[in-house]
Amino acid sequence: MTFQKEYSFSTFLKIVSFIVCIETKSKTMNKTMFGLIVCIVILGACSKSSTNPSFTPDCSGAVKSFKNDALPVFQSSCDGCHSNFSNYSQISADKSSIRSKIVDGSMPQNGSLSTAQKNNVVCWIDNGAPNN
Ligand code: HEC
Repeated sequence: MTFQKEYSFSTFLKIVSFIVCIETKSKTMNKTMFGLIVCIVILGACSKSSTNPSFTPDCSGAVKSFKNDALPVFQSSCDGCHSNFSNYSQISADKSSIRSKIVDGSMPQNGSLSTAQKNNVVCWIDNGAPNN
């Protein structure tokens, strides 16, 4: 599974950077500061990728409808903050950034979508975002 793979890869990176941290710390004072900064950057990058695993849509079911599948997700999970995501022309104009924010898990901010909700939006976009 994608999640499992990313998780163990970032764990591996964390272990490596932890060892690098200890190694660098035992050298001179200047290098300690530099080493610490490098470690913080690497660890920060790793923890972000493990909390935001990329979502792989399953579009094997029925073709998604804008009205019945995608729009209800925007109404329940996005409209509160994005009043512009309320009709077809505005949503379809922003579809590529919407897709990437859902796939990387960064939207909805302070919330989450179920797998079914993600599939409803991502599969609708991948099908050309028709007004159906
Ligand atoms: C709690 C408020 C909140 C909710 C709910 C929310 N967003 Fe956002 N969204 C934001 C804020 C604040 C930004 C700008 C800051 C940023 O990019 O992190 C943003 C930025 C974005 C952007 C990038 C800017 C743009 O307009 O192109 C997209 C795309 C987006 N959100 C999509 C969504 C989608 C899709 C949902 C629902 C699944 C959603 N958001 C739910 C607050 C929210």
